[in-house]
Parts: sequence; structure tokens; C-alpha cells
Amino acid sequence: MKGLILSGGTGSRLYPITYTNAKQLVPVANKPVLFRVIEAIHDAGINDIGIVVGVDDNARQVREAVGDGRRWGVKITFIPQEAPLGLAHAVKISQDFLGSDRFVMFLGDNVIQGGISDLIRRFETSDWDAQVVLTPVSEPQHYGVAELDDNGCIQKLVEKPRQPRSNLALVGIYMFSEPIFQAVNGINPSWRGELEITDAIQWLIDHDYRVEPHVHRGWWIDTGKPIDMLEANNRVLDEIDHHVLGYVDRDSQVNGKVTIEKGAEVINSVIRGPAIIGEDTRIVNSYVGPFTSIYHGCVIESSEIEHSIVLENCHIVDIPVRLEDSVIGRNVIITRSPIKPKAYKMILGDNSQVGIL
Ligand code: TTP
Repeated sequence: MKGLILSGGTGSRLYPITYTNAKQLVPVANKPVLFRVIEAIHDAGINDIGIVVGVDDNARQVREAVGDGRRWGVKITFIPQEAPLGLAHAVKISQDFLGSDRFVMFLGDNVIQGGISDLIRRFETSDWDAQVVLTPVSEPQHYGVAELDDNGCIQKLVEKPRQPRSNLALVGIYMFSEPIFQAVNGINPSWRGELEITDAIQWLIDHDYRVEPHVHRGWWIDTGKPIDMLEANNRVLDEIDHHVLGYVDRDSQVNGKVTIEKGAEVINSVIRGPAIIGEDTRIVNSYVGPFTSIYHGCVIESSEIEHSIVLENCHIVDIPVRLEDSVIGRNVIITRSPIKPKAYKMILGDNSQVGIL
């Protein structure tokens, strides 16, 4: 089998972070979501992976960050998509890479508990034409939803139904065989101008191909919005193995599941896990609370932060109020301004959000 990861798209729900970062490279527990997807596919025994990327600067970042895949022991082929014309469009342009192989398609911004090895094994040893992963959700109207008949077979797929007839949402992991190319060529763009994967799967069902559902009972997160990123960060921080490689001085307290990466320093501070402190980051006279990931090369000094993700090379210094529920991009400086008159002074990119007291 081959793997196909979708890492194009616009990521508009994560603006302003995604103006200058590919969404799939935003780290969750200090590892880009896309790397977690590559690892899940590799762990399932698949080593030939195509990655659909856009043609903008974010795509260049993805190519540079992933490289040729040798680091994971996989072979990576990049497949450029000239515009985000839909998940089924991404399949269409990947036909040369996929050939007649069965494949797993994994959305590059999704995180799933427990990996996909069992799913791949089920599909590999079956004669099904496709396998889709479903999970119960509380607000199905925001998802692609599957309606099953009494025998548990998929009857119908509906994209963001106004009145959902099931709470089973499509998770961003799909397994296909060759007929999917007939399907993506046989459908038309939806009202939003995209070739929808739900329409392609419905085409398979309507043409009597066997589409097998699998109901996933663990957690699954589509990191489309900042709140989802934070949720994924919580879940992953809670489940990974932690280790302390950096320096913690005697005046500091490190409690619970905490990783301190190499070159990091914790001085006269409290770190309460689950949390991760990245390489060469310094935490000085500060508090880092549960569910916080501070990436590489940051300085947190005389400040408090909790339930947040901070990207690389940020300086957070002398903040009088605890930062919470925040996603902070690269090279951001948050500090007390010594210059009078006393006021908030901000240089914020488009679509930034700041909550003040
Ligand atoms: P989405 O989250 O549906 O789309 P998006 O990334 O454009 O985000 P937003 O709605 O916030 O603007 O995409 C799911 C995944 O599939 C994501 O990793 C991007 C990828 N994708 C492609 O590679 N090509 C596409 O044409 C589309 C629509 C998405």
C-alpha cells in the first residue's frame, strides 16, 4: 500500500498563524502535526508516501521540513496542487503517484489516538474497495456525516447537513483502491467550487462498490481552529512518554508529566505538567502550567503561562497577568513596556486576536 497525505489547503481558520506557517507544521507537544501523521503511516508499515502541497511559501516550508523522508525511513514524493480545489481533487492529481496501488489518505492536520495500524491491516487483507473511518461527534452539522442502514452499511454521506440524521462524522482518514479514480473523475465541483471527497465516496456507493465503515472510539482531532490545536496539544501531552534532558536548578519544581528538551534551562520556576519545554528555551522566575508546549529557543521570564502553545524564538517577559488558552506564533515578543505614557502597545498582524483585562 501507499500513503497520501494532504498538506495543501489555505488554513484560513488558523489565521494569522497560517499567513507565514503551514498549518500542518504547527507543533503539537513540540512536534509538527504532519510529522505525527508521517509516523502513524510508517508505523502501519507503509514506506512510500506522497504529500500533496500547495505552490506557495507555506508549501516550500513543508518540503524543507520533511525533506526526502529518510529520517523516518520512508520515501516522500511531493505532489503540487495549484489551488486547494478539494480533497477529491487532491486524489485526482495524485493518480500518477498512486498508480494501481491501494492507499491510505490521511489529512495532514488530523491527529488520531492509537495510530492506524489496525485499520490498515483490516483493509489490506480485505477485498473492500474503500474503508472510511467514522466517529461519534456532538455537532455533526459541522462535519461530513455518514448514515448507516440496519446492517451497519453506509447508505449515504452528507457534507455538513443542516439536519443530521446520524452523529457519525467522517474522520480525515480514508482507504481507497483503484475505482476511486473513476469516482473523482465522475463528480462535479460542489457549491463551494471544490471536488468533495464525500461526493466521490457516495459515487462509489451508488455504483455498488464496497465501502466499509469503521467506527473509531478513541479521540480524534481535526486541528482546523486554534481551539482544536490546543485540544490536540492537551491530548498528546497527556499521552506521550516524557523525559528531562535539559537543566533544572534546585530552586525549581517540576511536577507531573513534563519534558524538558536538551539545552533547555529551568531556573527558579515551577513547571506543572503535562507540559513540554523545547530545546534551548529558558524558563526563568516563571510558572508554566498544565497543557503548555513551549517550542525551541524561547525565553519565558517573570511570567505565568498555562494551556497554551508557543512557537519558536518567542520572548515573554515580565507579564503581570497569567497567559492562558493562547497560540503564539514564531518570534513574538510580549513584554511590559517601560515607555510612558502607560498603555497597551501592539503590533499585530491581520486577524490577530488579543484578550485584555
Ligand atoms: P481543510 O481543513 O478542509 O481546509 P484548509 O486547510 O484550506 O483550511 P480552512 O478551511 O481553515 O481554510 O483541509 C483539510 C486538510 O486537507 C488540510 O491538511 C489541507 C488539505 N487540503 C489539501 O491538501 N488540498 C485541498 O484542496 C484542500 C481543500 C485541503
